[in-house]
Amino acid sequence: MRILIKNIKKLINVRAESPEKPLAGDELGQLPVIDNGYLWIEDGLISAYGESIPSNIAPLEMQADRVIDATGKMVFPSYCDSHTHLVYAGSREIEFMDKIRGLSYQEIARRGGGILNSVELLHRTPEDQLLAQALVRAEEIISFGTGAVEIKSGYGLTLEDEIKMLRVAKRVEEQTPLTVKRTFLGAHAVPARYAGRREEYVDEIVREMIPAVAAEGLAVYVDIFCEGGFFTVEDSERVFEAGIKYGMRPKVHANQMSFSGGVQVGVKYNARSVDHLEYTAEEEFKALKGSDTIATLLPGATFFMEMDFAPARAMINYGIPVAIASNYNPGSCPCGDMKFMMALCCLKMKMFPEEVINASTINGAFAMDVDGILGSITVGKKANVFITKEVPSYEFLPYSFSTPLVDTVILNGKII
Ligand code: NIG
Repeated sequence: MRILIKNIKKLINVRAESPEKPLAGDELGQLPVIDNGYLWIEDGLISAYGESIPSNIAPLEMQADRVIDATGKMVFPSYCDSHTHLVYAGSREIEFMDKIRGLSYQEIARRGGGILNSVELLHRTPEDQLLAQALVRAEEIISFGTGAVEIKSGYGLTLEDEIKMLRVAKRVEEQTPLTVKRTFLGAHAVPARYAGRREEYVDEIVREMIPAVAAEGLAVYVDIFCEGGFFTVEDSERVFEAGIKYGMRPKVHANQMSFSGGVQVGVKYNARSVDHLEYTAEEEFKALKGSDTIATLLPGATFFMEMDFAPARAMINYGIPVAIASNYNPGSCPCGDMKFMMALCCLKMKMFPEEVINASTINGAFAMDVDGILGSITVGKKANVFITKEVPSYEFLPYSFSTPLVDTVILNGKII
């Protein structure tokens, strides 16, 4: 299939060479665009781009199977959403009511709600039903412009149910055009059967779950919720050592509700990313600076939990590479809309549109190790793009935070 998109008002994030490292500091604010451009897609890949001048596009137009006239519209590389819990059973709006009544996330968790509520629901949901629910969410995020997604386990907390979740995530990859990366998050909460015996649950994760997940090739990352009331720095070290032994690179739910040490332990174990980061300051910045670990912002959860936002501006000024992800999950962010996440980062963290677009595309790609194939308009990368409706500017996307602005989605070179 050969697709020509012509008369593109702005072709966004065009890079002759894919960056070698995630964008940081001033680079994050530089968004390369081509005005009045064209994009040529062939065999699922970005094959050429340039300006839509007649001598450029006339020969291509003759060979194209499909010509799309994008007059007034823009073309973006698809979002790379590097932190989600897309596979889950049911929903938790009942806790939303508790939240409105004033209970905190941790109070709800202590009463057996929160993650353990989703664990119970997931246990009772057969694999095929879990898949059907996940596919609805997958279709939803595709319509929002997402082309690659990381999906975590973590609502199983038994070997059987953790494997069930990861198999479903694998089937999402097989049955949709999304690029999917899977993460084992057995250390998401201490299950009820181990109440008061957290270390013994960590033993089970290390001795049984990680080897079994690795034996089936179900996860490339290993994650932990390093937070008061959940898991400690020492637990994180044990889980990371076991995961690394089985070829999984760490990621961390870090510093979401306190200065938990999650950032430092993540950097120590060369985590691909440390995520959340509401409680970060100089010590965390020092640890991250110069490391190979990306700081992933999850503003949807901060918004939903009514907390203070991560100090993104200070991180960027410090030269730390940041990515933005949705954290789509039933408890802290029942939303997978990356445009809304970008809007929150602009409004609440004072990031600029150029920065949020880079953080949601190329830096998101780095945070899930797909930067070589996704995240920018670069010849040879997968043709994962979306065409907007007619828009006045790219700044209009985060500004117009709730208006659906995706007109056409192309994934793997196919119009969806
Ligand atoms: O990333 N913080 C921990 N995990 C999720 C929330 C999970 C839930 O509440 O179901 C998060 O915010």
